[in-house]
Amino acid sequence: MSARELVLWGATGQAIVLGEFVERLGFRIVALFDNDPTIASPLEGIAIEAGSTFERWRSERSGDVYGLVAVGGEHGDARLELAARMIDANVVLPVVVHPAAYVALDATLGEGAQILAGAVVCARARIGRSAIVNTRASVDHESQIGDGAHISPGASLAGCVLVGERAFVGTGAVVLPRITIGADAIVGAGAVVTHDVPARAVVAGNPARVRRYR
Ligand SMILES: CC(C)(COP(=O)(O)OP(=O)(O)OC[C@H]1O[C@@H](n2cnc3c(N)ncnc32)[C@H](O)[C@@H]1OP(=O)(O)O)[C@@H](O)C(=O)NCCC(=O)NCCS
Repeated sequence: MSARELVLWGATGQAIVLGEFVERLGFRIVALFDNDPTIASPLEGIAIEAGSTFERWRSERSGDVYGLVAVGGEHGDARLELAARMIDANVVLPVVVHPAAYVALDATLGEGAQILAGAVVCARARIGRSAIVNTRASVDHESQIGDGAHISPGASLAGCVLVGERAFVGTGAVVLPRITIGADAIVGAGAVVTHDVPARAVVAGNPARVRRYR
C-alpha cells in the first residue's frame, strides 16, 4: 500500500517530533505550513509554505490528504483553530500513536490526537480532538483530556482527572486523583496539583497555587 499523504501545520519542535515517527505509521509528509514562512524548515527536503496559501494548495491536490497540527506549548486555541481550518479544507486528521506509546484498548482518542513516545493512556481514558499527550506523560484510568489540551513530557495524571479544553499541563507536573483542571488553565512545570484549578488560572508549585489568570 502506498504511503498516505500528510501535511503538517506548524514548523517548529512538534513538527520535528511528529516527523520522526509518522512514516512508521504509513504516512509521507508532503507539505509543511506555518504562519511564518520565513523560518528554516526543520524537515529535510520539505519547504515551508505560508499558511495563507493552504486552501489554494489543497484545492490543487486531488485525493485523500491527511493533516496534523504540529503546534505544541500552551497554544490550545491555535491547535483547535488550525484543526478546524484543515477539516474545512477536506483534510482528514488522523490519530497518531508513537509505536513506543501504550494506549489501553478501551481508551478513546479524538481525531488529530497525538500520543508520543513512552506515553501511557490507561483504561477508559478519553483524549480530545487535536490534544497532545507528550513524551512519557501518563494519563491514568478514566481521565478525560479536553480538545486541544496538551499534557507535557513526563506529566503524571492520576485516575479520573478532568482536563479542560485547551488547557496546558507543564512538564513533570503531578495531578492527584479526581482533580479538575479548567479550560485554558496552565499548570506549571513540576507542579503538584492537589486542588481543582479554575478556568484560565496559571498555577505552579507544590502544592500548586494560583499565580495569575491568563
Ligand atoms: C508556571 C509558568 C507557566 C509561569 O510562567 P510565567 O508566568 O511566564 O512566569 P515567569 O517565568 O515570569 O516566572 C515568574 C516566577 O515564577 C517562578 N516559576 C516559574 N515557573 C515555575 C514553576 N513551574 N514552578 C515554580 N515556580 C515557577 C519563577 O522562578 C519566577 O519566580 P521569581 O519571580 O521569584 O524569579 C512557566 O514557568 C512554566 O512552568 N511553564 C511550563 C513549561 C513547560 O513545561 N513546557 C513544556 C513544553 S513541551
